[in-house]
Amino acid sequence: MIPQQKRETTSIQNPFNAPVYYYARTDSTLQAARECLADGCPDGTFIYAGYQTEGRGRMSDRQWLSPAGENLLGTLILKQPASTDFTLRIGLAVSLTLDSFLPPGLRTAVKWPNDIFINGKKTAGILCEGAGGCILAGIGINLLQTAFLRSIEHTATSLALVIGADKCPSFEVFIPALLNNIRECLTRRDWHEEISSRLWKRGTMVRFMRGQQEDDIIEGVLTGIAFDGALCIAEADKEHRYYSGELIFD
Ligand code: BTN
Repeated sequence: MIPQQKRETTSIQNPFNAPVYYYARTDSTLQAARECLADGCPDGTFIYAGYQTEGRGRMSDRQWLSPAGENLLGTLILKQPASTDFTLRIGLAVSLTLDSFLPPGLRTAVKWPNDIFINGKKTAGILCEGAGGCILAGIGINLLQTAFLRSIEHTATSLALVIGADKCPSFEVFIPALLNNIRECLTRRDWHEEISSRLWKRGTMVRFMRGQQEDDIIEGVLTGIAFDGALCIAEADKEHRYYSGELIFD
């Protein structure tokens, strides 16, 4: 087993005034962040990797697979307590960052709670974990990847596939832009308005899996997001709020 070596990358600006660490290869940047936290790293430390051997997705049975060196695989350490709107605020920051590289007229959409779509296809996912009163915000963004596994090739895309690999920003450009947007979105008063205007399938009929059981599916109209981050779905004219589960991609 090759030891996992991290190195500080001084060429990447961090608006949190904290280090940015790079691993060529690690199990998961969420795990590396836990170790960094145990070593006493400061608030706002960002860790990213070229390759993850055990990248984690939001659902417990899902891995986050990414070819070496093509995508952003990062975790931001925030020394603050979690709030119910936290993941959505990070999602808004990812959405705004990707938008800044898209041509005029094209915008990302936020699929509740934590996926970012371009042209109806998943481009980024967020997985936040708690760690002793701190938050680890794990962020996976498809930047340069152009080939996907057959099982997801119709539902996944990347920035390169949308704007062309030659126009894709480098990590040195993309990471500071992302961290800057996260810093702003954590306290933005209009976050709810902003995210609501980007909500995937808003105002349309959706199928929604409550919890993690594949046979527990309801249908209704997606009416919006509540201020506490819940997904609002109107079923037979009664609005229900959901705090966990997944919108089904048909
Ligand atoms: C999802 O959409 O299921 C969430 C995916 C989150 C993936 C990122 S990649 C960086 C960080 N490390 C991980 O192991 N997972 C997150």
